[in-house]
Amino acid sequence: MRRSHPRAVILGTGSELPAKVVTNAALEKLVDTSDEWITTRTGIKERRVLEEGKGNADMAYRASLRALKDAGLEAKDLEAIIMGTVTPDYPFPSSACVLEDMLGARKAFSFDVNAACCGFLNALAIADSFIRTGMIRTALVVGSDALSRLLNWKDRGTCILFGDGSGAVVLGASHDGAHGILSTRLRTDGSYVKALYVPAGGSLKPASLESVKRNEHTIAMNGKEVFKVAVRSMEEISREALDEAEVKVDEVSLVIPHQANLRIITALAGRLKVPMSKVMVNLDRYGNTSAASVPVALDEARREGRIRRGDIILLNAFGAGFAWGAAVIRF
Ligand code: COA
Repeated sequence: MRRSHPRAVILGTGSELPAKVVTNAALEKLVDTSDEWITTRTGIKERRVLEEGKGNADMAYRASLRALKDAGLEAKDLEAIIMGTVTPDYPFPSSACVLEDMLGARKAFSFDVNAACCGFLNALAIADSFIRTGMIRTALVVGSDALSRLLNWKDRGTCILFGDGSGAVVLGASHDGAHGILSTRLRTDGSYVKALYVPAGGSLKPASLESVKRNEHTIAMNGKEVFKVAVRSMEEISREALDEAEVKVDEVSLVIPHQANLRIITALAGRLKVPMSKVMVNLDRYGNTSAASVPVALDEARREGRIRRGDIILLNAFGAGFAWGAAVIRF
């Protein structure tokens, strides 16, 4: 018989970054920009780009195998696969279904979550809820995107920011009461839909020769608006998640923020009064990998020995929608 109210614990993490590196110097050849501009405005030095002929699920598969190995579980043990992404392999069905087949996770039900750069946090919150209700005992939660597929490589305002990658976390149910996901908080404000979006390719404006000619299948963004709302929103939601978990900001040993822009991260850390030594940053190497950003940074932080058992970490993310969220976890 199952006891009531288990908590979701992280059993393993994994990540995958495509091999192809695109440096700022390479972008200087595509658009009117400079390594100096990109570095000072964003902190990004290089990003990874998924090779042609591969899809998002190919990256997610490798990240998931590593997470399963780390957790000491097999794909057949998984009861759910939930994938945050805005770049699925097909318009439908979900990339989570493609991944389920690649892994041979026959017992799992699988679906994608579209919350842009916040997709991993939404997927994590859903899986956490399923585990806490007792509906499932294991889940694979993935954040994975290939935003290179949605970039206009002639738009210097966007093509310098993004990269491809995939991060995965295996969750299990625990009754010890001490460890696991302590809180998750999510929010959206749909009045900002057009501040960061892909104008065509959906039901409103299906693909046509005209839409392709007008570059409407690539990211359109108001960078200044995103910047302003991102800092404020991530601070607010982080405080809410900490309050709900009854954790003081000083008790957090590592903040793992969405890796969009170093200036956003330092502004956020300043507002939260967290020293940068307690903030995970890897965007210099990967840029903004959308839904993959937080789980990739989480996996790297663990592998770098920056997270020990008992540590409390704060995750937060912000992206198109606008959609944002935070989670507090005790390892
Ligand atoms: N290289 C060189 N110059 C560039 C450039 C580039 N890649 N991109 C823009 N510029 C130019 C602009 O055209 C502008 O020139 P102007 O003054 O002659 O008009 C100038 O640099 C300043 O542009 P601005 O947009 O004011 O720069 P900024 O300081 O706001 O930085 C971003 C731009 C995009 C880096 C910044 O707004 C940002 O990071 N926003 C958040 C975006 C984001 O994170 N999105 C994803 C969220 S999930």
